[in-house]
Amino acid sequence: MSDEAFAPAVSEWYAPPESIVQQAHIQDYAALYDRARADVTAFWAEQAATLEWHRPWDTVLDDSQAPFFKWFVGARTNIVHNALDRHVKTWKRNKLALIWEGEPGDKVTMSYWRLWQEVNRFANVLKSMGVRKGDRVTIYMGRIPEIIIAMLACAKLGAPHSVVYGGFSEQALADRIEDARSRVLITCDGAWLRGKVVPLKDVVDEAIHRSPIVEHVIVVKRTGQPIKMEQGRDYWYHELMSLPIASRQCDTEIVDAEDPLFILYTSGTTGKPKGVLHTHGGYQVYTSTTLKWAFDIKEEDRYWCAADPGWITGHSYIVYAPLILGATSILYEGAPNFPYPDRWWRIIEEYGVTILYTAPTAIRGLMRFGENWPARRDLSSLRLLGSVGEPINPEAWRWYHKNIGKERCPVIDTWWQTETGGFMITPLPSATRPFPGIEADIVDEEGNSVPPGVDGNLVIKQPWPAMLRTVYGDPERYVQQYWSRYQQHGWWYLTGDSARKDHDGYYWIIGRNDDVLKVSGYRLGTAEVESGLVSHPAVAEAAVIGVPDEVKGNAIYAYCILRNGFVASAALVDELKHHIRHEVGPIAVPEKIELVVSLPKTRSGKIMRRVLKARAQGLPEGDISTLEE
Ligand code: WT7
Repeated sequence: MSDEAFAPAVSEWYAPPESIVQQAHIQDYAALYDRARADVTAFWAEQAATLEWHRPWDTVLDDSQAPFFKWFVGARTNIVHNALDRHVKTWKRNKLALIWEGEPGDKVTMSYWRLWQEVNRFANVLKSMGVRKGDRVTIYMGRIPEIIIAMLACAKLGAPHSVVYGGFSEQALADRIEDARSRVLITCDGAWLRGKVVPLKDVVDEAIHRSPIVEHVIVVKRTGQPIKMEQGRDYWYHELMSLPIASRQCDTEIVDAEDPLFILYTSGTTGKPKGVLHTHGGYQVYTSTTLKWAFDIKEEDRYWCAADPGWITGHSYIVYAPLILGATSILYEGAPNFPYPDRWWRIIEEYGVTILYTAPTAIRGLMRFGENWPARRDLSSLRLLGSVGEPINPEAWRWYHKNIGKERCPVIDTWWQTETGGFMITPLPSATRPFPGIEADIVDEEGNSVPPGVDGNLVIKQPWPAMLRTVYGDPERYVQQYWSRYQQHGWWYLTGDSARKDHDGYYWIIGRNDDVLKVSGYRLGTAEVESGLVSHPAVAEAAVIGVPDEVKGNAIYAYCILRNGFVASAALVDELKHHIRHEVGPIAVPEKIELVVSLPKTRSGKIMRRVLKARAQGLPEGDISTLEE
């Protein structure tokens, strides 16, 4: 549990049940952590040896070009070999890889054998469209099995995928297509959400209109509503998959461990999203090791990560790590409260889910409907619960532990980021400490470690295999953003979070201490929303802040100064909200937009968001001696 207001006060202790502890993969965290620390490269080599490689590595970690670290240098591999190809040679071919449920109630199950064949078939389709090793393919889809097939098919060919979350707008999609220079895009006609169709293909059409570099669009028919298909550009997935080229045999492209696996755009402190780049080798080692140990994955588990495949949580812990471990995953298309607030609890009951991994915002959202909804379902199959994305507040933690876990499931609160690729600080399942091989610290502005109970910047002092390798197309930003802050001390990775340690050595994450907001678990840059607002002709200047919100964690408040000739009105506020919906996406629409005549600024002209934040919450404004007037 971690929460700014509560962290120092909460001292409840929940021991994991004996039955869970006894059969856990990791029995002695401290010994393992010490062993990893004593020889970190030997430790990671040992984990890497649990996977198959086409050629072994010459060097585990190459730091000669730091901070451009390289892992398993010289090794040849492909993550899809470890996720699928090797399993179909064993009894695992008959095990379920995926149990999928659509929002309207339709169902699909896929064995490893079937998933492997579908991936082969679609990889052949992509090949026939000219997709080759190194080509970036953009994927913009709902939560359907084909998004997983598409990601794996790209990886199989060594073509990095760039998945754009279906909640992003046409402009956000256009920017990402442009940055990745994708010639092929995979989408669907629409996605089901709360009984309505999200018109993904319309968004794609508009995005390509703005970034006309896409040559081929492959469209999965999901909802069946009429859409525009452009001759010579757009193709139906099911038609391509019925052609002879879509054969069930497709060789996996063997790539270098350091070849790119995917680009995933995430928000930073500027308006331009960063293309976080991950590679095949280190990522497959790190994601599979972390999932196995933190969630204690067993052969018989039915594991449900309720995130979207379009975020890093989905990439690492819906798609790649569970498949590498040969686990059975659940994927559900729609909203947690459709048609009733017990949809998730019904899914757990129906499929006998043993592990549920979700975000505090989802828990808080479902909490509002009361405990009778989960109480009426049989949740006795659950063994472990997970949380990710933002600090989980004590109320949500207790509710989750009591009403879903029935006080017998440990809550695994995993701290990590798009950039880290996998869990960094997590219980195993009994302590919120850094993962073995991860050297975390909390430091002050000068870089000194702070004592327990004191807030500081969370840094990682030692590279790890799933670390991002660069910002796609912008290596300078990579160095600047993540590695320059404490350069005088060495290569310390700056997380952008503040944290504190308690007297037991446990880490408590407080939240971002840069201009990044977590809104309903989504990561958004204040600058992204601000540049969206000023792109409207009426807005001269904008400032965006996050204000604490009971369900969303943070709510977005925006303050805009209008250009000459524009008059403040409720209609204009609505228009600005509409504008943001299309510039960035529905997730970025401010809760409140206030049209103002001035903004609090320092004499050097910097907007004092701190002052806006205090005002919005009716709190004292603190030191305003640097305020312009
Ligand atoms: C930021 C990264 C990594 C999966 C989803 C988020 C916050 C993430 C926790 C947690 C407190 C958390 C941090 C981090 N965060 N997990 N368990 N407790 N805060 O990935 O979108 O890249 O966001 O999410 O602020 O920096 P992301």
